[in-house]
Amino acid sequence: MARLDPANIPRHVAIIPDGNGRWAESRGLPREEGHRAGTEAVREIVRAAHELGVERLTIYTFSTENWVRPDEEVGAIMRLLETYLRTESDELHENGIRVEAAGRIHELDTNIQRELDSLIRRTEGNDEMRLAFALSYSGRSEIVDAARGIARAVEAGRLDPEAIDEKTVQGFLYLPDWPDPDLLIRAGDESRISNFMLWQLAYTEFYISSTLWPDFTKQHFVDAVLEYQKRERRLGKTSAQVQTPT
Ligand code: FPP
Repeated sequence: MARLDPANIPRHVAIIPDGNGRWAESRGLPREEGHRAGTEAVREIVRAAHELGVERLTIYTFSTENWVRPDEEVGAIMRLLETYLRTESDELHENGIRVEAAGRIHELDTNIQRELDSLIRRTEGNDEMRLAFALSYSGRSEIVDAARGIARAVEAGRLDPEAIDEKTVQGFLYLPDWPDPDLLIRAGDESRISNFMLWQLAYTEFYISSTLWPDFTKQHFVDAVLEYQKRERRLGKTSAQVQTPT
């Protein structure tokens, strides 16, 4: 069996955990049960990422587009999220994981905002791994929010429009100090970006898994990292330039 190269673990892994609904429907279960099983997979993959030495993990937990799902399903996801935040708090903290959030967090129910805020504050000093939940998140709305922030700074005279560059935009994103993902894993066999991290995925390696998210295990995660380790990241350079850096 192929072995992981510990010197080439992706620093930042982003995940689109797709397929909860199909997993449930194929078993004749309500979609809510797929999200429940998907939450278990989140637990397992957070542990796996930490064990492998991934420094940052972002999970696309709820998109701005997901709000249009039936109230019952949205409510079920929110209840699962609230329970997750409460019940995982001790383990995450004990493992030195720092929790963060990206998205229009003010759109979430106040009880969820409260749980999230308390976990973020509790784990603020941890530095083993950083774990971000993208909640009420979309890549386009993140860019819109960054543009608003930049416009306000210009209006207040704190920023010269001519001085705006890519670093400025990065500084107005939800997680301004996070590096771009090295690896994006999408479960559930769809080859779409689904409005996720549109700014940050410019040079990210994509890995599409046919496994539905609730069935996604540590071994699937290891397989994704193994595949990543086979890729040559050229970042716009030629292959020769990458192999013999000047
Ligand atoms: C995609 O499956 C998944 C979601 C829209 C919600 C993501 C939620 C979880 C992974 C569980 C909750 C997580 C935590 C941390 C509590 P889908 O419903 O779009 O699946 P489908 O494509 O098969 O319909």
